[in-house]
Amino acid sequence: MPVSAALQTLQARLPFVPELAIVLGSGLGALADSPEAKAGVTIPFTDLPGFPAPTVAGHGGRLVFCTFEDRKVVLQAGRFHFYEGHPMSLVTAPMRIYGRLGVQAVLLTNAAGALNPAFGVGELMALTDHINLFGTNPLIGPNVGPGPRFPDMTALYDPAFRARLQACARDLGQTLREGVYLGLTGPSYETPAEIRAFRGMGADAVGMSTVPEAIVARHEGLRVAGISCLCNMAAGLLPQPLTHQEVLEAGAAAADRFEALVRAFVRGLEL
Ligand code: 6GU
Repeated sequence: MPVSAALQTLQARLPFVPELAIVLGSGLGALADSPEAKAGVTIPFTDLPGFPAPTVAGHGGRLVFCTFEDRKVVLQAGRFHFYEGHPMSLVTAPMRIYGRLGVQAVLLTNAAGALNPAFGVGELMALTDHINLFGTNPLIGPNVGPGPRFPDMTALYDPAFRARLQACARDLGQTLREGVYLGLTGPSYETPAEIRAFRGMGADAVGMSTVPEAIVARHEGLRVAGISCLCNMAAGLLPQPLTHQEVLEAGAAAADRFEALVRAFVRGLEL
């Protein structure tokens, strides 16, 4: 999906160039309804040429340009998932837009399943790295300049951002786990055998988003941070089957802690 038409529409309506973009994951969208967000400029995805309406319940798609903790931010409520059948170019279009607008950094959040048996449901995890098991790469195709053809993915998740997230969590009395996020297409959850295999590969959490966005954000030269809300234990770690409902409920239960952490992270952030 070419982003230039969407970019034109946005540029005509946005009140300022945000410094930071925050992608709000499944069940974590409450920030887009905060007083700051209500005082900002909301642009529904459906106002942007090439952006279809999201299909999954609980994913209300819009961009909110607002002043948040004294910083100019864009809050992205909802995202496009590869499992919905969208092309990678649409899944990652918001990152291209942020890059072209001059946004400097993106905080990607998601709901994920925990593979690490030391982690618990409802905990937050800062991404230290990822494993791409989408079976494709969002940069396939003609290179979109000025990013390099073969972009480096070392320290993709900005170490200074991670250190800051840890310091904020400590100040808030929160535990912030750290680990490797393994991303795959979904929409089926994993089998217990797959989860055992992924554990052996070094993954701590598994989910269906974030990896394509992180790759394209890096290609756009954005600094990247990622936080997973560990909404359930992955298949085989507990006796019961997985449901989307428990993911939404754990997301809601963690929402206040998540919001406090994001607010502390943004307040006084050095970019
Ligand atoms: Cl267990 N797997 C995947 N792929 N995505 C998830 C999840 C599990 N829990 C939340 N999102």
